[in-house]
Amino acid sequence: MAGPRSVKQQLVLFLSFLTILACFVLPAVSVKHENFKTCSQSGFCKRNRAYADEAIASGSNWKPPYELDPSTVELKNGYLHGIVSKTIKSGEKIRLPLTVSFLESGAARVVLDEEKRIKGDIELRHGSNIRKERYNEAEKWAIVGGLAPNKAAVFSPESETGYTKVQYGPENQYLMVLRHAPLEISFQRDGETHVKLNDRGFLNLEHWRPKVDAPEGETTPEDESTWWEESFGGNTDSKPKGPESVALDITFPGYEHVYGIPEHADSMSLRETRGGSGNHEDPYRLYNSDVFEYELNSPMTLYGAIPFMQAHRKNSSVGVFWLNAAETWIDIVKAKSTSNPLSLGLSGKKTTQTHWFSESGQLDVFVFLGPNPQALSKTYGELTGYTQLPQQFAIAYHQCRWNYVTDEDVKEVDRRFDRYQIPYDVIWLDIEYTDGKKYFTWDPMTFPDPKGMQDQLDASERKLVAIIDPHLKNENGYPIIDELKGKDLGIKNKDGNIYDGWCWPGSSHWVDCFNPAAISWWKSLYSYDKFKGTFHNTFIWNDMNEPSVFNGPETTMPKDNIHYGNWEHRDVHNINGMTVVNATFQGLVERKKGQLQRPFVLTRSFYAGTQRMGAMWTGDNQAEWGHLAMSMPMVLNQGIAGFPFAGADVGGFFGNPDKDLLVRWYQTGIWYPFFRAHAHIDTRRREPYLTGEPFMQIISQAIRLRYQLLPAWYTAFHEASVSGIPIVRPQYYIHPEDEHGFAMDDQFYLGSTGILVKPVVAKDQDSVDIYLSDNEKYYDYFDYTIYQGSRKWHKVPAPLDKVPVLMQGGHVIPRKDRPRRSSGLMRWDPYTLVVVLDENGSADGTLYVDDGEGYDYEKGGYIHRQFIFVDSTFVSEDIGTKGPKTDAYLKSMADVRIEKIVVIGAPAEWEQKETVTVIEDGAKEATKAVLQFTGSKNGKAAFAVVKNPNVGIGKSWKIEF
Ligand code: GLC
Repeated sequence: MAGPRSVKQQLVLFLSFLTILACFVLPAVSVKHENFKTCSQSGFCKRNRAYADEAIASGSNWKPPYELDPSTVELKNGYLHGIVSKTIKSGEKIRLPLTVSFLESGAARVVLDEEKRIKGDIELRHGSNIRKERYNEAEKWAIVGGLAPNKAAVFSPESETGYTKVQYGPENQYLMVLRHAPLEISFQRDGETHVKLNDRGFLNLEHWRPKVDAPEGETTPEDESTWWEESFGGNTDSKPKGPESVALDITFPGYEHVYGIPEHADSMSLRETRGGSGNHEDPYRLYNSDVFEYELNSPMTLYGAIPFMQAHRKNSSVGVFWLNAAETWIDIVKAKSTSNPLSLGLSGKKTTQTHWFSESGQLDVFVFLGPNPQALSKTYGELTGYTQLPQQFAIAYHQCRWNYVTDEDVKEVDRRFDRYQIPYDVIWLDIEYTDGKKYFTWDPMTFPDPKGMQDQLDASERKLVAIIDPHLKNENGYPIIDELKGKDLGIKNKDGNIYDGWCWPGSSHWVDCFNPAAISWWKSLYSYDKFKGTFHNTFIWNDMNEPSVFNGPETTMPKDNIHYGNWEHRDVHNINGMTVVNATFQGLVERKKGQLQRPFVLTRSFYAGTQRMGAMWTGDNQAEWGHLAMSMPMVLNQGIAGFPFAGADVGGFFGNPDKDLLVRWYQTGIWYPFFRAHAHIDTRRREPYLTGEPFMQIISQAIRLRYQLLPAWYTAFHEASVSGIPIVRPQYYIHPEDEHGFAMDDQFYLGSTGILVKPVVAKDQDSVDIYLSDNEKYYDYFDYTIYQGSRKWHKVPAPLDKVPVLMQGGHVIPRKDRPRRSSGLMRWDPYTLVVVLDENGSADGTLYVDDGEGYDYEKGGYIHRQFIFVDSTFVSEDIGTKGPKTDAYLKSMADVRIEKIVVIGAPAEWEQKETVTVIEDGAKEATKAVLQFTGSKNGKAAFAVVKNPNVGIGKSWKIEF
């Protein structure tokens, strides 16, 4: 019989009720702020902000202590040298050697260092024997070219007392104006100042000083609480070199928008950071970190750092690159442009004022004067390198999850993709494939037959990517760790012993890929004889390379850890991830002597230059609409910052997306240069074939669209690899004159194809408004509906089964229309050319093709065509230089032909035509091909199809309509 409940029972019931309630009302997962520093918790950040505040508060009384001694100035062979002195409170002058290099590219580089530290004339604390200089090797990692000086740079004849002026740049059209006291450097193009350094007097280079303890009972005159030691979250950073930050304000007069400095989950046009409505409170931070459950619309640091910023205003782009690998923060504010008399006409226009500060290292900043986004991408890319031209498969679809649990599981997924006729190129193995998280091993129980698995993949030209992280399990008898220790290749702690921290395998050591011997060793681990069970179709994913250390300060390594060359981790932190990718990349080029192939490496952490080595993704996002929406600005910003091979986990890493979200994510993901689905180990399986109808069909169609456009994608990658230009391009890149597009980060163009995309990234939305800057006709990709009208929004329907994609008139888009299982199987497939006519009945476009695997393309083993449609004639012309491998390649491609030409916006008089005349180079006589015309109807453009013109893709030809 049930009696009245006891108090205890009631309490239990009440608690259970609370627990159930909590499950419903718990806030969404979000970042643990307390694990990461805010500016006020980072000593040098706080000091430099306070310095700026003091300068602002003092107004015209602010006396910046830096001046250039004009008697020391000399300009020779493109380099200007001089000595800047910093006058400190005691009256002592600290000598700071200044070098301004004027580069052939038109960039200028300003380096300021500290004589005492250069000479090693300082004392280290705590008996440390690290390097005494400011870190000066960032260049070694980031820069690969573009440093040739412009020897023609000369002092300007228009001299002025107190100033040094140098003419440089293309035809010496640029002018550097250096004011001696207080030091200020500004850069002019066309007589107008575009970039100013130390205009606000925030330059701060914390000179070396000995620690002087205050007498008993007294305090030091300045607040030294963060100078000699700094604690955060229970970790104490010993600072053997004392305070050594560098800071500078950089102003872009008349520029309202700045972009770049990834990685942040924020809008593409960066926000102000000094508070106020819609602004951030903290500066944008660059300190590569594994930020668990990162938040959106935030200046918080993420996994990678590229300190390159573009500033843009109507018809002008300029930029800066802050070459520093230490923790860096960037404040941004926007002000009315009052100081610039030439901007008077632009009333209300804003000037962007930035303030950069890094914890250590030299002050090293490159200034680019554009004049347009393309020129910036090119010049910055000349310095840090262009995107690696990837293998063809790498730009197709990647299927990943944490984890495919057995080799049989992998094979089954592979079979099911085929069964449901969904193309994919790569399947991925996350950490569980290893034997106890020991990289370079296989779990013998779950992956007994890696060869059988990879043979099956290879049969349809599919690839495997296996994860290899840089933390190595500290377990006796694991040969890799024994070698690491035996050869002394690990990162050290501050006492000079191998550093031990916690990551996936538990206690671990980290390979120090700054060390050339470690690079050689790490490379050797990828040879087929060493990494057994991997083959020509195995590629690599380097994760956790910030490095992520679960029990370290801010989930990374202590700053006083020591790297090769006796540099502190503090100095090199943001480069660390790149050094791992660099070594992996080198290891994959030649895994067996004489067998060269292009590597594929995915990395989570990156720095300026990592674009030369692989792809990146935006880390552990969430299966939420907000994260889907944020992926686009993040990917676009990567492109702006010279690292366009970027993507986000399709579907969202944490959590289970509902089917609408998953569909929309695929429809967006097909436009990421790096297109991979991935999911956390605790999520439900969500391979596209599991979604049921109609979702599976819709997702398959989206993936097929990516495959159909692979020729256009590969061409865009090629362009990026020779000119640095983004693969998916923001509105302002294409329309630098239209201010309405400058902050637009949810629509973009694919390469130079004129394809304009605006994915649906919000729930229950069945149309999108696309903004057109120009007055060209735009055509719906699928049904050729015409949209036209510049500076206007156009409503484009977007039911769940539709990706909003338009084609701008004036382009030729190369495609391959035959559905296949993988991109490898499309190699010999014929092409379709879509000719999208502009207002004048013209169009042009390019196509780049090579073997998609090796390096023959460097010797001319490629096809590069320009297609031009003008005056009713369509021609294919060869572009580019050729080399010793050209003939052989062309021969191998001789049977690859064009099977279809679609002309959109075809003139009405073609209705009368039945054929076109085809003249292929070298053919004895002209032939005819059938033309089918469909008239314009219900707002849809007329189009014509030429069936089987039967011309070679590698040939020159002419078709008369
Ligand atoms: C990290 C990665 C994630 C991966 C996981 C396990 O969280 O960002 O992609 O699945 O580690 O390796």
